[in-house]
Amino acid sequence: MIKHDTIERKVGLLGVLTALAVSIGGLAEIIPLMMDPVATTPTPGIEPYPALELEGRDIYIREGCYNCHSQMIRPFRAETERYGPYSLAGETVYDHPFQFGSKRTGPDLARVGARYTDEWHRVHLLNPRDLVPESNMPGFPWLAESPINAARTPDKMRALQTIGVPYSDEQIAAAQAAVEGATEMDALIAYLQGLGTVVRGL
Ligand code: HEC
Repeated sequence: MIKHDTIERKVGLLGVLTALAVSIGGLAEIIPLMMDPVATTPTPGIEPYPALELEGRDIYIREGCYNCHSQMIRPFRAETERYGPYSLAGETVYDHPFQFGSKRTGPDLARVGARYTDEWHRVHLLNPRDLVPESNMPGFPWLAESPINAARTPDKMRALQTIGVPYSDEQIAAAQAAVEGATEMDALIAYLQGLGTVVRGL
């Protein structure tokens, strides 16, 4: 048996055994959750993102919105009063990857859908200070000028299909036409407007 003293004196061995202990702890936490229906069954009403929203989600990720916005309402009164019902695991079964985030420079966005008009979002994304003078959110004016590359949308949906997102072949066939002509701004706003609306019953 290796004595504790020996382990503490050999930094390499200490590192290996620490990694082993952490992995076992991590796996014991993660694997049961991957099997738990609470986390793997979609909340009633949750569907895979329509083509335009899916493109908008990619813009959200590309622009790093998650660096300032979480999408995870915790089950505390201060949170639910401000943002709405707390987040459920089943709402995000089709999110690859999740956009939970951990930094709230700005407000949580998990239930921002249908809270403002499309026009509000458009003005806000062009220059947030036109609506909220004290805002430190950057403007994203180029999104209004950049078209979505519609030819790539079906491939994105097919890729998600292979990892279990239940897109039908008809949805994939119709995807290109659904986003053709849209700007990145249109797609991002469509995505934002869908966030959290199912659980709020909108
Ligand atoms: C540097 C941090 C920062 C980044 C990056 C950022 N935001 Fe914000 N955001 C804020 C702050 C601060 C506010 C609150 C003030 C305001 O409304 O402008 C906010 C507010 C918002 C709101 C209004 C939320 C509400 O409930 O009133 C939306 C929607 C939003 N941001 C979307 C986005 C999107 C989409 C992106 C990426 C394209 C983004 N933000 C990037 C900081 C940021």
